[in-house]
Amino acid sequence: MQDNIVLIGFMGTGKDTIGRMLARKLKMEFISTDNLIELSEGRCIKEIFERDGEAYFRKLEENALKTIKGLKNIVIATGGGIVINPENRIRLRKIGRVIQLDAELPALKRRIITRDKRPLIRNQSDIETLYRKRSGMYDFAEIRVNTTRNSPQMVVDEIIHTLMLQRNYIPVSRTKVLVRAKSRSYPVIIGVGILDILRNRNSRTVVVSNPLVSALYLEKVLASLNNHTKYVVIPDGEKYKTLKTAELLYDFLQKNNFQRSDLLVSLGGGVISDIAGFVAATFKRGIRLIHIPTTLLGQVDAAIGGKNGVNTDNGKNLIGTFYQPEMVICDLKTITTLSDKEFKNGIAEIVKYALIKSPELFRILKDNIKAIKKRDPGILSVIVEKCVTIKSEIINKDETERLNTRQILNFGHTIGHVVETLTGYKKYSHGEAVSMGMIEEIRLFRGNEQRLNEIKRLLENYGLPVKMPEKIKSRDIKMVLIQDKKIWQNRIRMPVFKDIGRVHIKEVLCEDLL
Ligand SMILES: NC(=O)c1ccc[n+]([C@@H]2O[C@H](COP(=O)([O-])OP(=O)(O)OC[C@H]3O[C@@H](n4cnc5c(N)ncnc54)[C@H](O)[C@@H]3O)[C@@H](O)[C@H]2O)c1
Repeated sequence: MQDNIVLIGFMGTGKDTIGRMLARKLKMEFISTDNLIELSEGRCIKEIFERDGEAYFRKLEENALKTIKGLKNIVIATGGGIVINPENRIRLRKIGRVIQLDAELPALKRRIITRDKRPLIRNQSDIETLYRKRSGMYDFAEIRVNTTRNSPQMVVDEIIHTLMLQRNYIPVSRTKVLVRAKSRSYPVIIGVGILDILRNRNSRTVVVSNPLVSALYLEKVLASLNNHTKYVVIPDGEKYKTLKTAELLYDFLQKNNFQRSDLLVSLGGGVISDIAGFVAATFKRGIRLIHIPTTLLGQVDAAIGGKNGVNTDNGKNLIGTFYQPEMVICDLKTITTLSDKEFKNGIAEIVKYALIKSPELFRILKDNIKAIKKRDPGILSVIVEKCVTIKSEIINKDETERLNTRQILNFGHTIGHVVETLTGYKKYSHGEAVSMGMIEEIRLFRGNEQRLNEIKRLLENYGLPVKMPEKIKSRDIKMVLIQDKKIWQNRIRMPVFKDIGRVHIKEVLCEDLL
């Protein structure tokens, strides 16, 4: 993986074309701030300008940069006016290595002919006026490349040469794990660059995603599907995993006359697979479903096993079903663009799998820290395959959580949930809370000290916290568990750690726990 690359420059300098080519050549991903804004707003830029004015659009640009901040391995093409706001210039430099694309005015005048698409250009003289007005605003770039006389390919080569960029890409062969649930068996395909493997020629397809994931990956998924494929973009975030959003999706399916034989594809993290899975399970009592998880947590956990759901005001995942997809596609290349925070959320769950079921996975996590943190697809492929296999074995025995077998997946989550509740779901990410939860649960059941230290070291090596916040006392933990109804008749059922790869479900007395 390498630093992000940010392309800035006046309209018509070729940021989109060159950005796409550069990303392809370096095996990075491409995103355009304008496209991200259009997907978030559900309307085109011209309409945004006409209805809400330039100031509103500039605010959206600022938000787009906040959304992109933290992502990795991307080439970003920005809107020409994004640099007007001096704070954006600082933001852009923090996001990646900034390159200014430039061109001489007559060339720009020749290129900017599509008046309809450019809300600030009504006639040729506007180009010159705006060009002069913006002069100097792009000067904060690390390098400037003139595109007047060079082909896009030559510009790409010049950028690669000047910045000494290298493509670091390790192809991996495709693997397949079969999930054997009682209700259905289905393949989980794991590979690199496989977003386009879907071929759904006969029935109709709708892809459900969010603005950020769509801006990064939708085009690739749509490329392999037929022209009648539709897509729906829902807002990003846990707070939209609601019945209200589900209703919007039902409406869309209804209006487009979707039938049970038609296909719904979820493209995104656990929020998307949960809500899309729920809608697929319930619309007309179940339409076809394929998950394309794009977060590490989604690939090793959320998209596997058929559990779906939405939140209500009373709690998370209170409404949902068990409904297995017919296929899951895990493209490891999507993991390279995740922010560190989201990547670590996945790592915490992977450590959990190792602790509950696999000393071998624990060893892999210990021996390959550098490669894993660099998101090497070769090692990630091994890890995702192992996690999917473990989850598949658990699902095979207890698809609908009737036998408590599936409960071992909650290891670290009981106390993790307490941490999230007591810190208002703000201070720690889910993965961080689970990391602290796992250590605390081992400690509470007096796990072997040497093992405990070994596990702590592993989590710390991945940048995950292992010490409970000072302010959380035993009394607080008990209060949260009671409110959460996990404690019943002074007893609680939870996974108890025995050794790496071994946990038991045990009913424990609260006194023993706290
Ligand atoms: N059904 C299950 O069995 C199960 C299991 C675990 C978790 N979950 C659910 O999963 C959800 C959490 O999932 P999550 O951690 O994937 O969070 P998420 O879906 O909210 O995604 C996290 C963020 O990453 C962004 N993102 C997604 N893919 C990206 C990519 N390739 N590059 C850059 N950014 C990307 C998203 O836009 C989002 O902002 C919760 O709602 C949880 O309840 C369900």
